Amino acid sequence: VGLFGTSRANSLGVDLNDVLALDTLNSQRALWADHLWQAAATLPNAPSDPTAQLRFNPANLTQAVGRVSDATKHQVDAALDLLEKASPMAKADRLQALRITADLFESHYPELFALLAREAGKTLADAVGEVREAIDFLRYYADQAELQTNDAGLGLVVCISPWNFPLAIFVGQVAAALAMGNRVIAKPAEQTPLIAARAVELMYDAGIARDNLVLLPGSGVEIGTRLLSDARIKGVCFTGSTGTAQIIHKNIAAHLDTSTPLVAETGGLNAMIVDSTALPEQAVRDIVASGFQSAGQRCSALRILYIQEDIADKVIPMLAGAMDLLILDDCWQTTTDIGPLIDAAAQNKVQNYIDQQKSAGNLIKQLRAPSGGYFVGPALIRVSGIADLGEEIFGPVVHVARFKAEDYGSIIDAINASGYGLTFCLHSRIEQRIAQTCRSIHVGNTYINRNQIGAVVGSQPFGGEGLSGTGPKAGGPHYLATFAQPSRVFGAQ
Ligand code: NAD
Ligand code: ALA
Repeated sequence: VGLFGTSRANSLGVDLNDVLALDTLNSQRALWADHLWQAAATLPNAPSDPTAQLRFNPANLTQAVGRVSDATKHQVDAALDLLEKASPMAKADRLQALRITADLFESHYPELFALLAREAGKTLADAVGEVREAIDFLRYYADQAELQTNDAGLGLVVCISPWNFPLAIFVGQVAAALAMGNRVIAKPAEQTPLIAARAVELMYDAGIARDNLVLLPGSGVEIGTRLLSDARIKGVCFTGSTGTAQIIHKNIAAHLDTSTPLVAETGGLNAMIVDSTALPEQAVRDIVASGFQSAGQRCSALRILYIQEDIADKVIPMLAGAMDLLILDDCWQTTTDIGPLIDAAAQNKVQNYIDQQKSAGNLIKQLRAPSGGYFVGPALIRVSGIADLGEEIFGPVVHVARFKAEDYGSIIDAINASGYGLTFCLHSRIEQRIAQTCRSIHVGNTYINRNQIGAVVGSQPFGGEGLSGTGPKAGGPHYLATFAQPSRVFGAQ
């Protein structure tokens, strides 16, 4: 079993044989195109689309996964009309439907794991974590909504999600907006509409009204721009890159009410500092998980490691040795630690970056990548500090900088000066340093002596500061309030 532990699937009581059997079934399905997974706009009486595009597994480019029909302009308009006329579901009904959705996700584990592996290139360990996170969001937001006295929804809310958590973030956004009595248009990432479509089908099966939730798969630029120029939209929930969030912000300012709330959760240049009091074995384990799990395709992932000069010559070879144990392969192997990047554009961008760094003499190490999919071997790149990094490189690349003890304070200043502020991790046994750093670092989520990925709904609300996000944090007690109108009526007896 690989380093990141697919045995977690067994801890859920899921028999991996069921999952593997389903995979066999799905390979057979691929022979009959009619039986592939399907994604299309979820509007009443939508005709089947003969131009639907086949989608392939990013780990195995010969394996078809499903067919996708992008929503047309007419369907975008029809969705706006349908939702505008609809009434929000009663509170008790919508919260019950969200809880039933969570139960349905549990009874559909094998299919959801299969879809996450096949469409998004998730390893089984990551797929298990993601389905559990989606279930946690559904139950947490249903419970939180019970506590809200002010739950008059905004009206029509657009939820725009990324491909790297195509189930958990997609469902979290939609569940939060629905829980507060909104009608929701969900726009999944171009790369992952099949998993979104299956989630929406299960939400309908659970009782979410078809005129309260519509899925519109397709181009972010086309559909997003169209939606964000329609004055009927009263709230926007976005997770994705900082650049896209800035475009959305401008579109809202140009076309919608100035009071339209925007929740934007974006990227980061996340740092970890390992000082000379850290435990090397523990630090190495957490660097590998933070930087390379999910092939580095997490907003929370480690991008720059600062390692104190005194221990660097010991820890960097240990880190290189631990990387050699990582297994890159098709996500259907229970031994796989690292799957592919999401598509050819991502693979080219990340590998080109690594090649440039190699030409500049900065490459410390890169693992070989298998062929047949969009794989990139995990890499370590030498830098002098965070100021050497440009934009977020969304892949398995960890930059490594050495620091002298006396420079600790200036590193914290440099991290804060980057403008990003998503995750930060410190490995140290100096209590005073830990306390001081927690006060002075400007990030959303700080982790001490552990890895910096995998925030847990309810106990570790997740979200960034500055260029990394607007807040409020997802999976936290303040998130739902954004999806309701401010209290307007006050009285006394
Ligand atoms: P992206 O910004 O390219 O796309 C995100 C979504 O926005 C997609 O659905 C896309 O179709 C849509 N979109 C694109 N252009 C649009 C426009 N002009 N108007 C409206 N919508 C538009 O991001 P991605 O590549 O899908 O996801 C990876 C990024 O997401 C990384 O930067 C990562 O750090 C970030 N991310 C952040 C968090 C977080 O919680 N902070 C979580 C996951 C991912
Ligand atoms: N919530 C996800 C994590 O913490 C993005 O890795």
